[in-house]
Amino acid sequence: MTSSHDAINAFQQRFAADPDFVVRAPGRVNLIGEHTDYNDGFVLPMAIDRAIWIALRPRTDQQVNVVSLDLDRSASFGLADLRHEGASWIEYVKGVAWALLGAGYQLTGWEGVLTGDVPRGAGLSSSAAVELATARAFQAVSGFAWDPPAMALLSQKAENQWVGMNCGIMDQMISAAGEADHALLIDCRSLQTTSVPLPHGTVAVILDTSTRRGLVDSAYNERRAQCEAAARYFGVPALRDVSLERFEAEAGGLDEVTLRRARHIITENARTVAAADAMARGDASEMGRLMDASHASMRDDFEISGPELNVMVDCARQAPGCFGARMTGGGFAGCAVALVQADRADEFAARVSADYEAATGLTPAIYISVASNGASVEELR
Ligand code: GLA
Repeated sequence: MTSSHDAINAFQQRFAADPDFVVRAPGRVNLIGEHTDYNDGFVLPMAIDRAIWIALRPRTDQQVNVVSLDLDRSASFGLADLRHEGASWIEYVKGVAWALLGAGYQLTGWEGVLTGDVPRGAGLSSSAAVELATARAFQAVSGFAWDPPAMALLSQKAENQWVGMNCGIMDQMISAAGEADHALLIDCRSLQTTSVPLPHGTVAVILDTSTRRGLVDSAYNERRAQCEAAARYFGVPALRDVSLERFEAEAGGLDEVTLRRARHIITENARTVAAADAMARGDASEMGRLMDASHASMRDDFEISGPELNVMVDCARQAPGCFGARMTGGGFAGCAVALVQADRADEFAARVSADYEAATGLTPAIYISVASNGASVEELR
């Protein structure tokens, strides 16, 4: 796994000097509450022990120079003259600079090395981790106060308006505000967070199907539009405001597809709040049951699962020590997540890996994960 030492060593090799800071921002896995964030609803993610690291030092000329170790590329831009230059990784860094400047932050330039071990395109929020690491890097050299929700909102703005991906707030918020050993119940309307430990004796296991899909953005935007249409039908700002009772009484006038989309969001919000309660009580069986129900809702009503994700979830449920499993993240490909008895996690992983490979011919990646803290900085001077 990547660590601060990898980023520091790479900086020393590249710049023949020591960095002043090393920042870290984690990826995330969402335990339950999918596509609810842009409906002003609830999500229950945890920050994971895989992260993006930047080792850096300030510059005095308003330039930002970044080396991406993993992509073997470098890029630079001037803070006084931000311009789009195609769809490249540096646009995430530039977008955060743009959002911070737009919000009135006085920024200092920097140079650094970026590296990490959040798999890209897997649904574990490598882009949000790059954004929050960038925000932390600017904070470290520019010296403004670190406010996790404000930084999450500006990073989301960078992704929405600079990069052009219309995501909700979940990924940036958990990368900014995650808490070691806890998942966070996030109210995506108020941005209030409640930290909830995993049930005693359980772990979250991430199951990467090794599938990646293109054209995910268009399906994502289509789901958003369908949810917005449903909210208009009910005359509310967001589906968050529709109770299950009201939905059942009044949904009859919706077309069949929009009805199923809305049903996923409304039931998923209820499941997410119930899941946080179950976790707080240490009720792993109930948490697992809610995860299973969430998967069915995403597969049948929201239609964002995929064949390999469904196979993975089935394999997980049949493996030893599993309380429940579901696909996680935006959907269609990437990862599932399972809640597993900690002392059977190795056995679980070996069995799922063998069964999934036998069923699909694909080799999965399996991570037994530990909940970590949100974006942080270490001063080395
Ligand atoms: C992606 C988006 C998030 C959220 C999830 C689905 O990860 O970036 O904002 O909508 O999909 O829950």
